Amino acid sequence: MTETLPPTAQGIARAASLLRDGALVALPTETVYGLAADARNGAAVAGIYAAKGRPSFNPLIVHLPDAESAKRYVEWSDDADRLAQAFWPGALTLVLPLKPDNGLSSLVTAGLPSLAVRVPAHPAMTQVLKNLNGPVAAPSANPSGKISATTAAHVLSGLDGRIAAVLDDGPCTVGLESTIIGLAGPGPTLLRAGGLPAEAIEAALGQRLETIDGAEIIAPGQLQSHYAPGAAVRLNAKAADPGEVLLGFGEMTCDLNLSPSGDLTEAAANLFDYLHQLDATGKPIAVVQLPDHGLGRAINDRLTRAAAPR
Ligand code: TXA
Ligand code: MG
Repeated sequence: MTETLPPTAQGIARAASLLRDGALVALPTETVYGLAADARNGAAVAGIYAAKGRPSFNPLIVHLPDAESAKRYVEWSDDADRLAQAFWPGALTLVLPLKPDNGLSSLVTAGLPSLAVRVPAHPAMTQVLKNLNGPVAAPSANPSGKISATTAAHVLSGLDGRIAAVLDDGPCTVGLESTIIGLAGPGPTLLRAGGLPAEAIEAALGQRLETIDGAEIIAPGQLQSHYAPGAAVRLNAKAADPGEVLLGFGEMTCDLNLSPSGDLTEAAANLFDYLHQLDATGKPIAVVQLPDHGLGRAINDRLTRAAAPR
């Protein structure tokens, strides 16, 4: 039912033409696969929520081919410029004040006065954005609350028959969703740890990032239970208990090892695929502790939410 498209000129043109017609297409990015719709088409954007089974309208990230196109939709600032220069295209999303008369469906922002924008670093994705010549709203291409998709097979396992097509360009290289920085308030704020380490962002800004407290949760990625496999997840395991499968890191014996050499970049790229694989065993998943710096912070964030009470 759902078409699988190759990352060729033809596949890219087909993806863009489906989007133009208001259809949903899963597209690869360097972070995770996104479930894309034309951000100007309210019915198409509503379709994203229906396909994901998202219970409420949460704001979506708008994807653009370059920073110049982002300025049509948001109030630009010096901090935005600094971060865009340093990290776009890449695994960084900026939340900025929304411009009036932006032409976007109001479902994209869920009524907020701000908008999340990202310029992804993925050749096929960029080609689709250029071909469409318009803004693309795209949450991660997984059913709501479930593990994110880093391959076309993951996308189909959750959304087959619910979306028009998936553009298959192999596994995502980063493997974690983008880091989200809020620039619509008083100071730069880390809204979601992700594929670009917060330390790199602080270095580029020459300033520490504020963090949000639990009281002002605005991102569903900030919801406690998220990225959840079917089976229970137990954190900080030293070894597997009977009946469990063990997700390891560094030199050790386990069922799947995120990075035997202890490399956090490799671990990030493997995280969601290994959770999908261990989930398929139907057994509870024990996970060892990972370092909490660099990409480890985002990995631990995802694992904590995967383990949270549902
Ligand atoms: O890497 C990524 O960011 C992927 C790829 C596809 O680009 N997308 C992604 O989208 O992870 P999603 O919908 O799963 O997560 C987007 C996050 C949500 O937590 C949402 O609440 C937050 O961005 N967000 C969007 N607009 C916002 C806004 N105006 N203010 C605060 N948070 C916002
Ligand atoms: Mg998501």
